[in-house]
Amino acid sequence: MRYAEPAAEDRRRLDPARVFAAGLENHHVSNTAYPIAHQSTVAPYRVTAGEQHPVITAAFADAHDLCVYVHVPFCETRCGFCEYTVVRRDEAAQAERYVDALVAEIALWEAAVGLRTRRVHGFDLGGGTPTWLPLEQIARIAEAVRGVAAFEPGVCVSIETTPRIAAREPAKIAGLPGLGFHRISMGVQVADADLLGALGRGHDGAAEQLRAAEHIQEAGFSRFNVDLMYGFAGQSLEGWRATLEHAVRLQPDAITLYRMRYKLTRISHQAGQVGHGQVQALSALATRVLGDAGFSAPTGKTTLSRIAGEDGTSSYLSRRVRDGMAYLGFGLGAQSFSHRTLSYAAGAAGKNLTPYLRRVARGQLPLQDVYRLPRCQAMAKMCAVSFYFGAIDGAAFARCFGVELEQAYPEALAFVLERGLMRWSGRVLGLTAAGLAQLPGVIALFFAPSVQAHLIERAPGDLAPPRRLPVHAPVVGASGV
Ligand SMILES: C[S@@+](CC[C@H](N)C(=O)[O-])C[C@H]1O[C@@H](n2cnc3c(N)ncnc32)[C@H](O)[C@@H]1O
Ligand code: SF4
Repeated sequence: MRYAEPAAEDRRRLDPARVFAAGLENHHVSNTAYPIAHQSTVAPYRVTAGEQHPVITAAFADAHDLCVYVHVPFCETRCGFCEYTVVRRDEAAQAERYVDALVAEIALWEAAVGLRTRRVHGFDLGGGTPTWLPLEQIARIAEAVRGVAAFEPGVCVSIETTPRIAAREPAKIAGLPGLGFHRISMGVQVADADLLGALGRGHDGAAEQLRAAEHIQEAGFSRFNVDLMYGFAGQSLEGWRATLEHAVRLQPDAITLYRMRYKLTRISHQAGQVGHGQVQALSALATRVLGDAGFSAPTGKTTLSRIAGEDGTSSYLSRRVRDGMAYLGFGLGAQSFSHRTLSYAAGAAGKNLTPYLRRVARGQLPLQDVYRLPRCQAMAKMCAVSFYFGAIDGAAFARCFGVELEQAYPEALAFVLERGLMRWSGRVLGLTAAGLAQLPGVIALFFAPSVQAHLIERAPGDLAPPRRLPVHAPVVGASGV
């Protein structure tokens, strides 16, 4: 399938210095969650409802290597800081119906694109909180995926949990390795119970997290990751140091550092209280404290590993980030990317189950928005995601897009190399310490022109979605990676 023709907005070339400055000014949104401002920037590429099915099946016909993701949109509580697709508490009663629909959706994709013939390089069960489901329902999902997906040897399959679930339900946690989950990731976020409470997370803090980690260690996963978050309003360096030291005591194999993204969260109004300098100081402290404790990563990589030579991430994430591999997402609001298309399943916008369940019940792929991308948007998507690892792999880029990074981004590369923001190491273009300190500016240089123009025109601090969307407005849901 060919790339879409770029719209006029994507045929411009913008001054790299202005783009870089705009990225820094808009540091809260200039990040790996691409695209930004989809209402205008990728809207020209949105296909009609009638075209969705043929476009998406044609796009995935070429994807012989891919990763799969399954989304579970249930949690015990909705945290105030969360950016993901999570449904209201009263919809949780439909969990079993949701798993029925997931199993049916996977079969629909198999019929549409023939998953059995593909090489599957990663599988993550994420959310939400997939471990909120009973073990039998998790088993049904894992079985449905394995029924259609032939995993490549050595694939590290991952699942997510909260400390509360891991602390209170040890039998469930102990059952997960037997279902084929090699890695578990637990969202600690911060150790301070008061801050967790203020963020609407309602967890018990450090003691509960320690108990959870013990249960995870006993369960016998091959790998254990802990997620931490920084960039909250008023988050002190001392409090953050305590969180980091506490995370090390949990003895994970890897620690992933998430900078708080405010867009579309319940605490988006607090973004203005958090400056780029404060965020930089928190990030630098994390690298020092975790480095002293034996966790390392190349500059700018958000997951630090204690195991030499390992990414510390699941195969699903590693292959997406490092290789720009195509991925298929199943479940409410799940995102899929094929190099030619970016699409979102039903529920990404409204975060309610009804449209998703209805579509699957009718025997249709539950697609909400499908964008047929021009090459500049597909390249921007891959590059933006690459910054999870602080580097763009030039060889992978050339394999995906048939053009060298230097040819695709001559001005951006000249800008970052002349200023010492990035440097080549073989064919990998990685951030330097100076580049990491100015990451929102650097990353913007790889966005498509329509998104760069949006950053230049946009008022910093403007994180709210437009007040009124057109009736059939394209909607991009939970960003995640
Ligand atoms: C899908 S969540 C799953 C983990 C699990 N539900 C939990 O909360 O413990 C994955 C991770 O995303 C991070 N996260 C959540 N909201 C975020 C936001 N607004 N900005 C950046 N990271 C976020 C958190 O660190 C969280 O652990
Ligand atoms: S952060 Fe995790 S537990 Fe909290 S609402 Fe989001 S997905 Fe659910």
